[in-house]
Amino acid sequence: MSTGPNRLHLFRPFLLALFLLPPAVQGQDDPAARAGLDLLPWPSRVELRTGRMPIDGGFYAVLIEYTEPRLEQAVKRLEERIAVRTGTILLPDRNRADRVRARLVVRCTGPGELVQNWRENESYRLTVEAERAILRASTPLGVLRGLETFLQLVRPDGEGFGVPAIDIVDIPRFPWRGLLIDACRHWMPPETIKRNLDGMAAVKLNVLHWHLSEDQGFRVESRLYPKLHELGSDGNYYTQEQIREIVDYARDRGIRVIPEFDMPGHTTAWFVGYPELASGPGPYEIGRTWGVMKPHMDAASKTTYTFLRRFIAEMVDLFPDAYWHIGGDEVPGDQWAENPRIQTFMVDQDLADKHALQAYFNQKLAKILARENRSIVGWDEILHPDLPPGIVIQSWRGMEGLVQAAREGRHAILSNGWYLDHIQPAARHYRVDPLSGPAAALNPQEQAFILGGEACMWSEFVSAETIDSRIWPRTGAIAERLWSAASVTDEEDLYRRLDTLSRDLEEVGLTHLTARRFMLRRLAGDLPVEPLEALSDVLEPVKGYQRPATGSYTSLTPLNRLVDATRPESLTARAFSQTVDRFLADPDGAVADRLFVGVCLAEWQELPSALYPHLQERALLAEAEPLVRALAGLAAVGQEALVALETGIPPEGEDLAALQEVVETARRPQAELLIMVAPAVGRLLNASAGRPPRPRGPAGR
Ligand code: ACM
Repeated sequence: MSTGPNRLHLFRPFLLALFLLPPAVQGQDDPAARAGLDLLPWPSRVELRTGRMPIDGGFYAVLIEYTEPRLEQAVKRLEERIAVRTGTILLPDRNRADRVRARLVVRCTGPGELVQNWRENESYRLTVEAERAILRASTPLGVLRGLETFLQLVRPDGEGFGVPAIDIVDIPRFPWRGLLIDACRHWMPPETIKRNLDGMAAVKLNVLHWHLSEDQGFRVESRLYPKLHELGSDGNYYTQEQIREIVDYARDRGIRVIPEFDMPGHTTAWFVGYPELASGPGPYEIGRTWGVMKPHMDAASKTTYTFLRRFIAEMVDLFPDAYWHIGGDEVPGDQWAENPRIQTFMVDQDLADKHALQAYFNQKLAKILARENRSIVGWDEILHPDLPPGIVIQSWRGMEGLVQAAREGRHAILSNGWYLDHIQPAARHYRVDPLSGPAAALNPQEQAFILGGEACMWSEFVSAETIDSRIWPRTGAIAERLWSAASVTDEEDLYRRLDTLSRDLEEVGLTHLTARRFMLRRLAGDLPVEPLEALSDVLEPVKGYQRPATGSYTSLTPLNRLVDATRPESLTARAFSQTVDRFLADPDGAVADRLFVGVCLAEWQELPSALYPHLQERALLAEAEPLVRALAGLAAVGQEALVALETGIPPEGEDLAALQEVVETARRPQAELLIMVAPAVGRLLNASAGRPPRPRGPAGR
């Protein structure tokens, strides 16, 4: 399904257009149709025509019919980005009044909602002919989405810059497409949030889920309860003015902002200034480590609810969205169990266990929020029959919460499988679908309650310097899953388009590619940085929760090592792995592949001589030495395997065992990093010894 039955009416005119047009590439996973087009997310329907519209000096766009400041600003941003990308000269305003000469005509037929909501129509139609492009939408949101598509079509094309003649009709599959940014475990300054909002807009995401309070930090200025931010944030908090500015910035880009004030657990930072909110005696200090901490809000005390009522009344002024995230995850309840007054309260209220007490707490919150016209979003732990309808369940522990919520007629969004901090490849996130697995068994009415999902950027191991590289470009894969038809699944084509997206994202100021060089230069000092880049190119940080398992981190530990600089997904390893497989499938024919493999191996063999003299001189680089040694050893094994394949003399016995041991050593994490080319070298070795290949790991390498 592309839209739930209860949303169909909103999009009827566009659906009609979708069905009336010839069946070009409607919802089809048709890589051939995508060839050469770097659109991401892939639109609902694309009909490529012959010809092009040149983008040359004097390009400008006009808005007709309905307009408003955010549309004018969006058009201005588009013109500026085109000017920077193509070198066209921006015309002064007075020279752009002439509609006839405008290359892009934007026709919006009406205003959007005062406060953006998930029921709003985001569809658009973009038609490009030789002389002119027309973007039509019934709301400003549709215009914003269509402008991003237009920008993705502006490419160098041999005759300069141009946009292909094309007809696109586009409508999102899910109305809730979000990114969670945790500004608590590590502080994320306003400019970090803003550039990520620009990235989100580029891939048509429409919800910033802003995680604003935690054990490790309370990040919003409260004028009513100033000790929250004064004592709970180490001075790193958003002023109310900054919050307003970011919420406006997001709205200008068609993005809702949903604040999360996680409670009753994950609340230590609140208690530093207001220990009376806690279930156990203080004093409290800001959390410096992470995991599930013991302090919980006192769910049995009037003081807590009075405080929360006033606090929320202050905060709703800053966050206009109709939804409010109450967190609700990971509540072990020990502090409740240890407090006799709370235990007595539970008996009096007939609350059987901690789940019942949390449900009581959530019902109180729901009432407070209802008075402020806000509906609740919460992690899947909050699911409980006593909660009012109209809440949204965010499923993170699996798909069960999502499915159960939908069965009960509650809205739900998916985050399980989309934890960016797990450092998984884009392809793995791409395979996750909110309507797959157990959700596929739901009937269409139930499925319509699944509104979409959110990628989650938890910040235990990211700083403002590294966060972009953990979010981008992988989030593009999730954005496509949430926007495009379920049948768009070609992973090769995804990677091709993510590569272009990466460059587009740099254009809006994201640092996901460039930060590595800064960080490696800092590590290298006056030494050449290129060998370190070559090393980092084949590495990836360890996966899942392996990094926290080392146990030596606090929120004050600098994230400044090779593992922090290294990107989550090694495209070099991906290319190497694919080339090895092509070569092994056709050892005699794949001459260029053989050459590529040999060149890579030779480069890795050279790394010790480039790096060894220096590694020990740089305290922070000493940990890279075993990696360099393991990689060079691996490269030598690869070379031997190539020779064995060419001579037909396989390695045997102890020789083979020694070579295999080198590969096995290289597969083990070192300095919290993995050498991602090790599995492919292992396949090369096994092939040279005439052995069956070892099964692939989860990353498919
Ligand atoms: C969560 O990851 N604790 C929602």
